Amino acid sequence: MIAIRPERTGDEQAIRDVTAAAFKDHPHSDQSEPFIIERLRDQDALTLSIVAEEDGSIVGHVAFSPVTLTPPVAGWFGLGPVAVSPDHQSKGIGSRLIREGLARLGSDGAAGCVVMGDPDYYQKFRFRHESSLVFPGCAPQYFMALAFSGAVPEGTVAYHPAFGVE
Ligand SMILES: CC(C)(COP(=O)(O)OP(=O)(O)OC[C@H]1O[C@@H](n2cnc3c(N)ncnc32)[C@H](O)[C@@H]1OP(=O)(O)O)[C@@H](O)C(=O)NCCC(=O)NCCS
Repeated sequence: MIAIRPERTGDEQAIRDVTAAAFKDHPHSDQSEPFIIERLRDQDALTLSIVAEEDGSIVGHVAFSPVTLTPPVAGWFGLGPVAVSPDHQSKGIGSRLIREGLARLGSDGAAGCVVMGDPDYYQKFRFRHESSLVFPGCAPQYFMALAFSGAVPEGTVAYHPAFGVE
């Protein structure tokens, strides 16, 4: 039985471990993902932090944090990092984490969410590449958006400084 629930005090080390393990052999990772989550938490920018728990062990995690749009548009967030422990992948846990996070963001009144990643994976959550929304330095097809209300705005997106990229 996998439980999907918000992060609680005491989960920090397990989130670090599961994220490090998931990204260990990732071809596009510099292994900074666990530190990004910690910097977001330290800077009060971890808007949503959701874990997947099996028999008391954390086996997956997803983070959401605010992004900045230029020209300014309020209420947009970025999904990631998302990680599932290598021995628990391809069982739907990542999808459950993402769906739960998006549902919570939407019901909390967010305008939308962006993600950088593989279109084949994120399209099933209704993320689409939108030419009006640009993330400099990312090949366009790997940067996607999902509006919860209204249209996807025009502009340039910056992740929180905790990501170490502007
Ligand atoms: C991406 C990740 C979180 C997905 O979690 P998961 O629990 O395995 O995902 P799900 O079970 O919901 O979905 C798995 C399906 O998505 C596919 N999938 C996983 N990662 C994918 C990717 N990057 N691109 C395309 N498809 C992907 C799998 O092939 C699998 O398909 P299958 O069920 O037909 O085998 C997990 O694979 C992971 O931690 N990967 C390493 C870290 C990472 O890449 N994070 C995302 C960075 S953008």
